[in-house]
Amino acid sequence: MPKVVSIKELRLFQNENASNHSWGLVPTMGSLHEGHLSIIKKSVSENLITFVTIFVNPTQFDDKKDLDNYPSSVESDLEKIHAIDPAICVFVPKVSSIYPDGTASKKYELKELDKTMEGQNRPGHFDGVATVVQRLFELIQPDVAYFGQKDFQQLQIVSLIGKSMNIQISSVPTVRESNGLAMSSRNNRLSIELRNEARLIYHVLKMSKEKFLTHSISEIKTLIGNMFDQSPAFVLEYFEIADESTLKIADEKQNNTTYRAFIAVKVDGIRLIDNLSLN
Ligand code: PAF
Repeated sequence: MPKVVSIKELRLFQNENASNHSWGLVPTMGSLHEGHLSIIKKSVSENLITFVTIFVNPTQFDDKKDLDNYPSSVESDLEKIHAIDPAICVFVPKVSSIYPDGTASKKYELKELDKTMEGQNRPGHFDGVATVVQRLFELIQPDVAYFGQKDFQQLQIVSLIGKSMNIQISSVPTVRESNGLAMSSRNNRLSIELRNEARLIYHVLKMSKEKFLTHSISEIKTLIGNMFDQSPAFVLEYFEIADESTLKIADEKQNNTTYRAFIAVKVDGIRLIDNLSLN
């Protein structure tokens, strides 16, 4: 089972497989669910070698409590990965391998993609994501890297990093639980009742898609705000409709623009995000 921890071991594996391109990379923070597994399967089906990284990146957590509570299950993650393909190289680096000069983010100019929604609500988050993704790209040197659409803003931001390093970015659709809730490592921290009630998140996204044809953006926002006001278990952090490529918040619909609805909700203190294409 190729599991590598040090950069030296990683280099050894890479040298042994130097003639075996293409290489696919699936960066994760572990605690793998079906959503991750579908991304890994896509990489395996499209590349000769797949690298999965498991690294809970401290610099992307704006809330120390969230980092402390982030679930970890490396052994069962390894089993799930190698059940897909025993040849997958799983890189589980130490913090000092990723941050040899100290655990801090670099500052990025991200074409304003980081100014709204997650970027606005989680200061420094995307600098942390960009820093670790750039470092993983430098270390692994993949031909293509895979990211889920659930973190759509992240997907657009890593696409910028990929472009600047000549690495192709491939996006994978969100996998949902049977009630529509987007799969997330955080779902495990919800009680069964709240996990069931959290179907409201996808429900309002689908509703916004329906209403987008006939209602203004401000009417849709009022409707959704009212629904969350009546659901005491949920705190709506934001519901926005934004231009899918620039991520600028839309107040009015324009022609020739592709829109997406974005939502962040706290359920019993646990923060969940989701999004849906409206066009
Ligand atoms: O989406 C995630 O799990 C993380 O943000 C990522 C891309 C692995 C970077 O730490």
